[in-house]
Amino acid sequence: MSRRILVLAGDGIGPEIVAEAVRVLERLREAHGLDVALEEGLVGGAAVDATGSPLPEATLEAARRADAVLLGAVGGPKWDGLPRERRPERGLLGLRKGLGLFANLRPAILYPELADASTLRPEVVSGLDLVIVRELTGGIYFGEPRGIRTRPDGVREGYNTEVYAEDEIERIARVAFETARRRARRLCSVDKANVLESSELWREVVTRVGAEYPDVELSHMYVDNAAMQLVRAPKQFDVVVTTNMFGDILSDCAAMLTGSIGMLPSASLNAEGRGMYEPIHGSAPDIAGKGVANPLATILSVAMMLRHSLDEPELAARVERAVGRVLAQGLRTPDIAVPGEPTVGTREMGEAVVAALDG
Ligand code: IPM
Ligand code: MG
Repeated sequence: MSRRILVLAGDGIGPEIVAEAVRVLERLREAHGLDVALEEGLVGGAAVDATGSPLPEATLEAARRADAVLLGAVGGPKWDGLPRERRPERGLLGLRKGLGLFANLRPAILYPELADASTLRPEVVSGLDLVIVRELTGGIYFGEPRGIRTRPDGVREGYNTEVYAEDEIERIARVAFETARRRARRLCSVDKANVLESSELWREVVTRVGAEYPDVELSHMYVDNAAMQLVRAPKQFDVVVTTNMFGDILSDCAAMLTGSIGMLPSASLNAEGRGMYEPIHGSAPDIAGKGVANPLATILSVAMMLRHSLDEPELAARVERAVGRVLAQGLRTPDIAVPGEPTVGTREMGEAVVAALDG
């Protein structure tokens, strides 16, 4: 039976980049034996416009039935004035929570061809290969109580809660240790245990789980230092495990090491290994509709989908090789070009990857 993939293009550049990733899937289906059925759905601002809700029930149900979800991006200035409950971002967060996607893998790999596109010196970033394991369904993103209230003196205050339960920390720690086991066996847990009780417990639980993984070298780092180390000497990291919010911030930082945030894919997995796959960048409203967005992060997200949810490691490697090949051919979207270098658009980049798949 063919596996079902739910495609959620979303907003901004979402539809443009997802279209290229879909062409990659279609080529794999035509010529390389991939048996999948694609279905489309609405999420984010596009869903707000069509249905009034950023996550229509039909989308969540289709996502639950699917073997994997491919998502573009959500959000944009058009919807920023809406009440929080109806903002496009809620659609994304609702999918993560609704599918139980607690483990977010965000690999940052520097393709040798892009060493000059990074804002850091080539010797600092060349050979970079790290993965951030971000907890995705807990912490301050979802913690209660939250809100904006008015104090008795009439002054309003906004508040959120960073909260992590032992079992939540334990399961993300296990994913991180297992990930490290398949790599260079070094895990750095990032927290703010010098200030936050939630981090104190985080560190204690990660250390306890670590006892079951004596073959993995565990270290701990405060988040401010981790941010600094990521730009100072990023190659010291193999696997980083951290909370939802710290992971959000550090993964954007790690992305820039690789030349562009337009290169980074991600996988969000639940306990059964089913997942949602999306580029880590956003909807980039400033360049939406211009045909210049980089589709490679979304195409590389397809590779992660093939590996983690569809059990097709060879096809995953084929997609990754194709991306390497187009970069070696010199194709560059504007975000990964060095000044003065000729550039190609979204469609041309996608077509080149599709052509390189057959090699
Ligand atoms: C990300 C994004 C999201 C997040 C936004 C769009 C809600 O920044 O996936 O990193 O904060 O998790
Ligand atoms: Mg982010």
